[in-house]
Amino acid sequence: EMLLARTSAASQLNAQMGSKKQLTVGYVATMGALHEGHATLIRRAREQNDVVVLSIFVNPLQFGPNEDFDLYPRTLEADAALAAEAGVDVIFAPTVEEMYPGGQPRITVSSGELGHLFEGKTRPGHFDGALTVINKFFNILKPLTEGATLNAYFGQKDAQQLALMQRMVTDFNHDVVIKPVPIVRADDGLALSSRNQYLTPEDREAALVLSRTLAHLREKYITGVLTDTAVDEAREAINSTPGVRLDYLEVIDPATFQAPVDDQGRVLALVAAYVGNTRLIDNMDIN
Ligand code: PAJ
Repeated sequence: EMLLARTSAASQLNAQMGSKKQLTVGYVATMGALHEGHATLIRRAREQNDVVVLSIFVNPLQFGPNEDFDLYPRTLEADAALAAEAGVDVIFAPTVEEMYPGGQPRITVSSGELGHLFEGKTRPGHFDGALTVINKFFNILKPLTEGATLNAYFGQKDAQQLALMQRMVTDFNHDVVIKPVPIVRADDGLALSSRNQYLTPEDREAALVLSRTLAHLREKYITGVLTDTAVDEAREAINSTPGVRLDYLEVIDPATFQAPVDDQGRVLALVAAYVGNTRLIDNMDIN
């Protein structure tokens, strides 16, 4: 049985590490409902590390009052099977009470300016919640790695979350290396997400407008015709799709999340939209 309480996770991890030095530990943080996107992070961690740790925790702190915390899929048995298949050594699946004794933390991480743009604007407190829980996971895991390098894998699917994790590691001096992993998509282009299971067949079809529009923007950027008007048209293409309501579509530099200033760095198109009742996000490098 791979579902372990906090203390047994700690002792198992200690046993895995043994007296060996110079090992590396790969860590993948998830909220469960694991799919091929998560599996890709796990396999990457497996390839690059001696020991692989997976956390599964539906973090109440990062859900708003009208969001899907209660509804969020909890599929621990299937998750454990996928994890074993993908090469996880230790699963850490704490309870809410273990993570937040009394239900609420007294001290939280503040995500700063970037935490209030885009996803943070529509989901107040979301990034503070995600950073607070990952801050705790890093602090729980790091001492168990006995001086080994701790590599933490995060998906580019959640580009803003990834940037904020990197900022937290820098600003809080976490002894952790953040490893970005590219977005995993279904064959038809839809970015994989645990929330895709909320989509009706009609929603699923309508949702394709997101990845198609991003690919269209990339086409325009590469051929040198990505004007503000073209971005507005892309917004309109999404918003005029039946069952789809655009939240935002922006072209940014992922180092700053501001408008790109030159052609030097990456250029990322970010999108968020409601498809039926489900909020989906996606992004694509367009240069
Ligand atoms: P969750 O949505 O379960 O995602 C866990 C990790 O898997 C994140 O790093 C996310 O970016 C990555 N991921 C999800 N779908 C992906 C896809 N299609 N391609 C590539 N990577 C993908 O993100 C969270 O959980 C939480 O906010 C968490 C970081 C665990 C904190 O609670």
